[in-house]
Parts: sequence; C-alpha cells; structure tokens
Amino acid sequence: MRTIDWVDGAVEIIDQTALPAELCVRRLTTVADLVAAIRSLAVRGAPALGVAGALGVALAARQFADDPDARAVAVREIETARPTAVNLARGARRAAAHLADGPDAVLREACAVRDEEIAASEAMATRGADLMVELCGARPRLLTHCNTGGLAAVTVGTALGVVGELHRRGALSGVVASETRPLLQGARLTAWELQQWGVPFRVAVDSAGPFLMARGEVDAVILGADRICANGDVINKIGTYAHALGARRAGLPFIVVAPESTVDHDTPDGAAVEIEDRGGAEVTAFADAANPAFDVTPHDLVTAIVTDRRVIRLDRGEPVGPARGTS
Ligand code: MRU
Repeated sequence: MRTIDWVDGAVEIIDQTALPAELCVRRLTTVADLVAAIRSLAVRGAPALGVAGALGVALAARQFADDPDARAVAVREIETARPTAVNLARGARRAAAHLADGPDAVLREACAVRDEEIAASEAMATRGADLMVELCGARPRLLTHCNTGGLAAVTVGTALGVVGELHRRGALSGVVASETRPLLQGARLTAWELQQWGVPFRVAVDSAGPFLMARGEVDAVILGADRICANGDVINKIGTYAHALGARRAGLPFIVVAPESTVDHDTPDGAAVEIEDRGGAEVTAFADAANPAFDVTPHDLVTAIVTDRRVIRLDRGEPVGPARGTS
C-alpha cells in the first residue's frame, strides 16, 4: 500500500496521526487540506514530503488554474509548510517548474517524483543490506530511530527498507526501535511497520539507546535523514545526535540511509539548516518547553551514507560531492 498517491484527481494519504490505532486513508482535495496534513504530520518523513510537495503543486495547478497569483501563493505555502526536510521544497519546485505547461504537465512531473522515490527506496534496500552484511557480518542486532519505513516514503522506506531486506534474507537478529519523543514515530509507526513485516523488535525510550550500545546489545545504528549537507552533516529527528555519540563511544557503525533527493549540495553544513521548532504543546501542557524537531549529527560521527546510487564512506574520508552522472 502507498503512503501517498494521486487517485482520481486528488491526493490520498495514510493518516499517520491515526496509527497504530486505525489505518485511515484521507482524501485531500485542496491545497489547504494538503498543507494542514503536512503541518500536523498526517503525512511525514522526508521522501513522502517530497512527493507531497510535488502532488500539492499538482493540486494547486488545478485549483487555481485561472488565477496565477493565488497559485503562486499556494505553491509558496506548500514549499514552506515545514522547513527542515529538503525534499518538500525540492519536490514542490520540481513540479512548479512545469506550471507554464498546464496542470497535466505538472501532474506528470509530480508522478515522476513519486516514481523516482519508489525506485530509490528499492535501490537503497539492496545497497544498504549489502553494506550492513559487510560491516556487521551475519544477523546483526540493529537500533533505529524515528520512522523510516514505507510510511515515511511511498513504499519500502529508507533505513527501515534495509531492515526489511535483511529480514527477508534471514540476515537480521532483531531491532531496537527508539520511541522518538515527543510524537512517538518509533513507538507508534516503526513498531507498527515491523509488526506487519514480522520482524522481531523491542521499543526503547530514547535515552536507553547509548546504554544498550555500551552494554553490547546492539551491533549497529541505522536511520534516515531529512537533509544531508555538502560536508556530510546529517539532519534527522531529534535524538539522532545522541545515538551517534553512543555509537562512536561503543565503536559501532552509524549508518544513514537516504535517497539522493535528500542530499543538499547547496547547504554547506548543519549550522546553516533551519531546525523546525514545533512548539511546547507537544511536550507538556504545564510548563514552557524547548521542542526542536530535528538535530545535526556532525559528519565525523557517520560511518557511511547509503543512497540509491552510491555508498559514501565518510569514515574513509570520501566526500559527499555530486553522484556520478549529475552536475
Ligand atoms: O518529523 P518527521 O516525522 O517528518 O521526521 C522524520 C524523520 O526524521 C525521518 O527520520 C527522516 O525523514 C527519514 S524518512 C525516511
């Protein structure tokens, strides 16, 4: 099942705020519906946001076919609905580049963004599973953070796609899914996906990760990214940096799996990225709260980045640079 798709003239999503209690498909027929779904995390995860951005512009092209000013405002709202994952603005801009050619051309490009993410997920699953076998040997115990499965992409996913592929190969012992406070993408969504796939897993509180690594209960950390900077700094869900420090201290591989659409050559390093502040209400109703939604993991803590086109061994000093065949 696809997390997000274009169905009969509208965008359909699995509403991730309703999981795991309910598998609910929502139909988004206007740009306002789509922007609200992005902001509330009904659709979330970097690759899925890229597709949402592109399909959102396809909606805008139809909804405001005769009003270019309103259409431009709508495109800007889509692009900026969330700031941190590079995929959202990138997907929206790719589709918007075809606005002059009419709504059908925009939709064609948006569907190409969707199809490329599906292909990228499949490529990462194979490439990433091969690397994990090379680095960890037979049947590793993996720790993952946030949700990087099909729910965060269109199908398959990034880091969790690799986990699924290892499981299919009989090459995985089990997974620790950190719960991912405050919105519990790990405890709600990753746990739900792993259960569907029959992968053995346990959920741990976020602060338990480094301790489990130190105690020898984890062989590697594998997770996704919302943006990979030109120097290899990794922007991902808050808590990622702490897991990278834990992995370094325990001498474990720290593997980032993300499509090339998440690699941002225009952003030099993590300091240049706007980290989404989601407001205190998600953390507590009775005191002020700091709630940065993402953090920056310095490139020197990352063993390797796996994309759909290459493995970049940061531990061997390989630069991120453009993938072969791109400018
Ligand atoms: O706030 P979210 O749930 O959109 O954050 C998602 C993440 O941080 C994921 O780890 C990242 O997008 C990789 S998704 C394959």
